[in-house]
Amino acid sequence: MKLIAPSVLSADFGHLADDLEMINRSEADWLHVDVMDGTFVPNISFGFPLMEPMRKYCKKPLDVHLMIVHPEKYVERFCDAGAWSVGFHLEAVDDPMPILDLIKDKGVRTCLTINPDIDVKRLVPYLDKVDMVLLMSVFAGFGGQKFIPETLNKIRFIREEIDYRRLNTLIEIDGGVNTQNAAELFAAGADVLVAGSAVFNAPDPEEAIKRMKA
Ligand code: DX5
Ligand code: ZN
Repeated sequence: MKLIAPSVLSADFGHLADDLEMINRSEADWLHVDVMDGTFVPNISFGFPLMEPMRKYCKKPLDVHLMIVHPEKYVERFCDAGAWSVGFHLEAVDDPMPILDLIKDKGVRTCLTINPDIDVKRLVPYLDKVDMVLLMSVFAGFGGQKFIPETLNKIRFIREEIDYRRLNTLIEIDGGVNTQNAAELFAAGADVLVAGSAVFNAPDPEEAIKRMKA
């Protein structure tokens, strides 16, 4: 699959509805929603109050990426707030299984995420238990960072595992994705590319999305 999920973190929050209408018009597949708590990552983004206007104005599925400690406390509220998928970090929890069950019980798609310093092999036992895995290609916390090239080998490794076991689990990549590296990431086996600054800071965001998908 070749899906693009622009990250709303790089949108203009003073004109959020306009940016969401651009997303609606564009070839973007999902809207990626980055929630940061200032504890799991050294940055704070936004929370529930923004889920409402995003659900109202955005016609694309909301792909929620929780960069928070204790995701078990909040995953159900994000499901109720209209998330299409909810992901959290494996390294933020002791046991992801009961938290994945909370999301599944709401009928929402599940995603497990790891930062670049977490061994990609730690995802393997969960590949048949989630709808998607998200490999961070920068350290979670900020938009506009540089893509970490070692991510490519991690994509290939996870792709092989998924294909060998004939699973449908999606591979999502987040951080430093742009029109120059998108094709290589898809070729390595990624299904979904998140792009924040490369979309919203582009002179023509719709064209940037189109080029990443092409
Ligand atoms: C980083 C976030 C990313 C970020 C990507 O912590 O998870 O989704 O918005 O931004 P860019 O595409 O600018 O690296
Ligand atoms: Zn993200």
